Amino acid sequence: NANGAKAGRTRNIVEKMDESGKNCVIFYGSQTGTAEDYASRLAKEGKSRFGLETMVADLEEYDFDNLDTVPSDKVVMFVLATYGEGEPTDNAVDFYEFITGDDVALSEGNDPALGSLNYVAFGLGNNTYEHYNSMVRNVDKALQKLGAHRIGEAGEGDDGAGTMEEDFLAWKDPMWAALAAKMGLEEREAVYEPTFGIVDRDNLTRDSTEVYLGEPNKMHLEGTAKGPFNAHNPYIAPIAESRELFSAKDRNCIHLDIDVSGSNLTYQTGDHIAVWPTNPGDEVDRFLDVIGLTEKRNHVISVKALEPTAKVPFPTPTTYDAIVRYHLEVCAPVSRQFVATLAAFSPSDEIKAEMTRLGNDKDYFHDKTGPHFYNIARLLATVGKGQKWTNIPFSAFIEGLNKLQPRYYSISSSSLVQPKKISITAVVESQMIPGRSEPFRGVATNYLFALKQKQNGDPKPEPFGQTYELDGPRNKYDGVHVPVHVRHSNFKLPSDPGKPVIMIGPGTGVAPFRGFVQERARQAREGAEVGRTLLFFGCRKSTEDFMYESEWAEYKKDLGDKFEMVTAFSRESNKKVYVQHRLKERSKEVNELLQKKAFFYVCGDAANMAREVNSVLAQIIAEGRGVSEQKGEEVVKHMRAANQYQEDVWS
Ligand code: FAD
Ligand code: 2AM
Repeated sequence: NANGAKAGRTRNIVEKMDESGKNCVIFYGSQTGTAEDYASRLAKEGKSRFGLETMVADLEEYDFDNLDTVPSDKVVMFVLATYGEGEPTDNAVDFYEFITGDDVALSEGNDPALGSLNYVAFGLGNNTYEHYNSMVRNVDKALQKLGAHRIGEAGEGDDGAGTMEEDFLAWKDPMWAALAAKMGLEEREAVYEPTFGIVDRDNLTRDSTEVYLGEPNKMHLEGTAKGPFNAHNPYIAPIAESRELFSAKDRNCIHLDIDVSGSNLTYQTGDHIAVWPTNPGDEVDRFLDVIGLTEKRNHVISVKALEPTAKVPFPTPTTYDAIVRYHLEVCAPVSRQFVATLAAFSPSDEIKAEMTRLGNDKDYFHDKTGPHFYNIARLLATVGKGQKWTNIPFSAFIEGLNKLQPRYYSISSSSLVQPKKISITAVVESQMIPGRSEPFRGVATNYLFALKQKQNGDPKPEPFGQTYELDGPRNKYDGVHVPVHVRHSNFKLPSDPGKPVIMIGPGTGVAPFRGFVQERARQAREGAEVGRTLLFFGCRKSTEDFMYESEWAEYKKDLGDKFEMVTAFSRESNKKVYVQHRLKERSKEVNELLQKKAFFYVCGDAANMAREVNSVLAQIIAEGRGVSEQKGEEVVKHMRAANQYQEDVWS
């Protein structure tokens, strides 16, 4: 297995633990970084509270055929996110296939196979999806079947209910108690030990050629970036074109065409593009200010792992400014556990008492911070009442904050029509927060918006007045660029263009369907027999947020009657009209098309819309075929399993 098989690095976890003196490994299966973050937090806590020798490990970097040789005085933890339709995250695919396989081939042939393995499990899921936390559930089941011993409960965090963090905190304490009992661990006064050391590099300046100022890796630093471009190596792509699709008083939507012709990146209609954002300048300033690093922001430092299994999550030498701007998720809501960790470094006893209470008292924390959605810097500024937090070791931020994550967008173009130009359709996230004078602004969408403004020479917009470092090192190229990579998806048109398709895409959910319709229009123009192409689109008002309104007419010129767009405008009358209502009105045709094996697609909001569409479809099938609603549900389930019903949803 070539994954991560760098020279000298073992893929044998038992060997790795032995050589580094560890007795606890925490594996993570992570897509957006949260599971990885939780794994690091468990490692930190195990070490500081119980003196466990912990290490964090990416599932992708190890083999599992020797899990049965992990001795019983060690423990293996699994922190596993469930992705999309109950799938493992990209880095957990091989592990998942191995452990849930029919014939798990382990090295020793013991009976029971994993009789000496002690494990701990926590899952990250979203209850708005059908296969809630199926990763941790299935892995737990598989491990039990192989005779392994679980310590504590298999925890489940729910992002859908917005309780992930609290679910995690509530799960971990009884787990630690059970683990301490099992392994005979003594709890001690938690001592903070930094994982990373910061070394001043006084011999270097910000302008030195070896200093990283946001470049993702050495090739980018040296200006020789080459593929393969992927989640470890983004392509810094020129933006070919960008424009605003609509602008309403409380939101706006942008379209960007990303030029990938200078790379070997390819995509297929229905894939996702990942955008690597930059944090906004005002938040970077706020963060550096509250920890007293404004003056030192451009000092060059190296960051070194103080223990062999820790990895510095960005390249160095670099500057504090670059770390905060490009590598840490400083805008996200602060976690309660992190607040508890930072209490020890408070500037006064009074502030320490307040931080400790915030960290330990769930209700108090939510009363105080909930309505404001403080990010770390805002919280420290508020609690510190203007005092600077100069006692916090910088390592604590590298350990305690999530890495700045790429955001995914459903590609809104057809690879048949524009193979080297990838379209993005994004709603710029901005929402008013009670008690705060300015709105919360999404990191990636406002960054994309700023790129659009720059490219078009538009004046700085208000109220989106954040400044982004757009001429920085990630943009040492001419023109406006954005770091991206492509993630392949299973959301695909039928290979036969003659098959009918039904697409449900309100709001930005229409993104991939622009690609689908574009593709079918091209196929029709080239003489293919194209099947019925029925698109349900919903927005607030025909005059406000009707995306790509004039384009649909163009596609119709090629597709003729084969293409029909059914619209649901939710705010044009005193009654909400949604896509699922329109779908219901078309029951007869929808049922007939499905009986002709039409593919059915849903894209957009996972929380409500996708569910409601699912149940309306079950009703349509039940009524149309004269069967019970339960049977209708089963038919839909069956369609999902057969890929006839495909979802591309997010929350
Ligand atoms: P973030 O900064 O990540 O914030 C996201 C939300 O979190 C905010 O709106 C807010 O509600 C909350 N939040 C975060 N921090 C705070 C805080 N401190 N205080 C208060 N609230 C906070 N989006 C599209 O527009 N178009 C698409 O085609 C599209 N396709 C997608 C496909 C997939 C497979 C997935 C997973 C997602 C897709 N998304 C799409 C969503 C997209 O990836 C981003 O999540 C979205 O654009 C918001 O990103 P952001 O960085 O601007 O917001
Ligand atoms: P609303 O905002 O007026 O409620 C795109 O965001 C469109 O999806 C809007 O017209 C929005 O309507 C609508 N929408 C909101 N909730 C929905 C739901 N549960 N199902 C379908 N559409 C919904």
